[in-house]
Amino acid sequence: MSHKSPKDFFAPLAVGAPAPLREIPARPSRAIHFFDPSNPKMAAKVPAMVGTVDVLLGNLEDAVKADNKVAAREGLVKIASETDFGPTQLWTRINSLDSPWVLDDLITLVTEIGDKLDVVMVPKVQGPEDIHYVDRLLAQLEAKGGVQRPILIHAILETARGVANVEEIALASPRMQGISLGPADLAADRKMKTTRVGGGHPGYLVRQDPVDGDIHGNRTVFQQDLWHYTIAKMVDACAEAGIYPYYGPFGDITDVVAAEDQFRNAFLLGCVGTWSLHPKQIEIANRVFSPSVEDIKHARRVVKAMGDGTGAVMLDGKMEDDASLKQCLVLVDLAEELAA
Ligand code: GLV
Ligand code: MG
Repeated sequence: MSHKSPKDFFAPLAVGAPAPLREIPARPSRAIHFFDPSNPKMAAKVPAMVGTVDVLLGNLEDAVKADNKVAAREGLVKIASETDFGPTQLWTRINSLDSPWVLDDLITLVTEIGDKLDVVMVPKVQGPEDIHYVDRLLAQLEAKGGVQRPILIHAILETARGVANVEEIALASPRMQGISLGPADLAADRKMKTTRVGGGHPGYLVRQDPVDGDIHGNRTVFQQDLWHYTIAKMVDACAEAGIYPYYGPFGDITDVVAAEDQFRNAFLLGCVGTWSLHPKQIEIANRVFSPSVEDIKHARRVVKAMGDGTGAVMLDGKMEDDASLKQCLVLVDLAEELAA
């Protein structure tokens, strides 16, 4: 089976697709910064954030009060119409597919600001049928509104059923741009005993075995990553489909150290970015999801030393071969994409 990257997709969509369909360039999306378009103070800050963050996302779902759903949708239309987003992508998180608001979210946003919207984030995705539904609606609304480029889809992985179906979700449509972990809803759906929005838990740990049977003696304790399994599963599904995996929200805004650790673990496991719930988290995400100067320098040395890319060489006492070259190229390519 051949694995397509998003660049290879875009066979014409089913319903009246506008032509020509664009290719999707790999665009940096290290921080997806959430704002509430129904909150005038927050909305007023959006134009000044253009260029400081890879993605600005107008959130219509959880964290927006039921009474404010219409105001949030209308606020996003207003901001999008009045703002030139330049290099920053504009995304939205629509309400969930079982809510009374989602149909109007899609109709209003695609027909009124479809040309400005890059990605629609779909919460609580359970299986590929949810993506097929949104894909078909987007195609119809794009055709109706004369939208000139296909709007992409990003799924949030935040139900146990969604995790079980993650491969099918990733491959469900040529519009799939990526998947984010939704640790808060996922924890509730799985009946995990946590109360936080992402991040760790001090009780989830392993302890070194007792020395000489002394269970009260000094024993090293390590806190474990609650999200390792799901992130790794999501990363594999995204790699297979040629789309992008993301960590999600880290709700303790004050704990910048733990946020950075969680983001870095996700980066090392293959994620390309994360959500930002506060401007403080943008700086952390931009730094963590960019390869470091030392890593790029080392990767370039290996690429150079490997010449035609075959065989093995010794560098600083370490064996490098075709496979380590491929790993180094991941870092070099990412550095070039971010610099472009
Ligand atoms: C995000 O939506 C989450 O539930 O963590
Ligand atoms: Mg959620």
